[in-house]
Amino acid sequence: MRGKVYLVGAGPGDPELLTLRAMRVLQEAEVVLYDRLVAPAVLELANPLAQRVYAGKELGQQECVQSEIFRQLLFHARAGRKVVRLKGGDPMVYGRGGEEWAFLAGEGVEVEVVPGVSSALALPGLAGIPLTLRGVAGGFSVLSGHAQGGSLPELAPYARSDTLVILMGVKERVRIARELLRLGRSPQEPIAFIEKGSTPQERVVVATLGQVAAGELEVQSPAVWIIGQVVRLRERLHPASVLQEAQLKTLSIAETVR
Ligand SMILES: C[S@@+](CC[C@H](N)C(=O)[O-])C[C@H]1O[C@@H](n2cnc3c(N)ncnc32)[C@H](O)[C@@H]1O
Repeated sequence: MRGKVYLVGAGPGDPELLTLRAMRVLQEAEVVLYDRLVAPAVLELANPLAQRVYAGKELGQQECVQSEIFRQLLFHARAGRKVVRLKGGDPMVYGRGGEEWAFLAGEGVEVEVVPGVSSALALPGLAGIPLTLRGVAGGFSVLSGHAQGGSLPELAPYARSDTLVILMGVKERVRIARELLRLGRSPQEPIAFIEKGSTPQERVVVATLGQVAAGELEVQSPAVWIIGQVVRLRERLHPASVLQEAQLKTLSIAETVR
């Protein structure tokens, strides 16, 4: 019997955002190799008899973990098993899905991709921030804020997009914001960070690009960072949350004064 590997997107966190296909292959899986950003509530939906293998990458050990993932995928597929490679969001968006598929194809292993709801697309919308809006934003760019060997990714090709969505940008947010200002974006431009989106711990921080550049913002990873005029829509589409955030801010200011 030949095994098969399913490259499955787990969505941003809320299990209700899984696709039907993802749900079905999870329930039929014999092995599930899952990433750090896969929500426990999604993992709970997998076949209870499936072997679960944690394949999360901590900083600094990405490459050796990746070769171990290749090894495990191959081992289980060659043993004739149904293997689910479960990744946060969509497996083809900063998820190394392409590399894993290429490796398995080179080894003659059958692969099926099950797309997932990417945090880049879903979380802004859920928070009342449409990525495009007629007359405000005609398009958007999704980019990585991960610094490689201390250097920021090149931002110039994307800096003029109406809306920017930055993944993995929390750590380098101050440097990224300063670089975007240098490239011509306005310090008054509204921005939002959505932390742990679509989970019960979700938190949305709204500010300006200038405030990020000045190092004034506390943000926790993982977060999706949106930059652009569309952020203003949140006030209209999610007024209750905006009010609650404002009350929280007033509270913490009052506590500081006290
Ligand atoms: C390695 S990338 C993987 C992206 C994923 N494949 C996707 O399509 O959403 C990890 C980054 O995605 C973003 N991310 C993923 N899930 C998130 C969530 N629930 N809340 C906020 N950000 C999230 C963060 O920017 C995080 O640093």
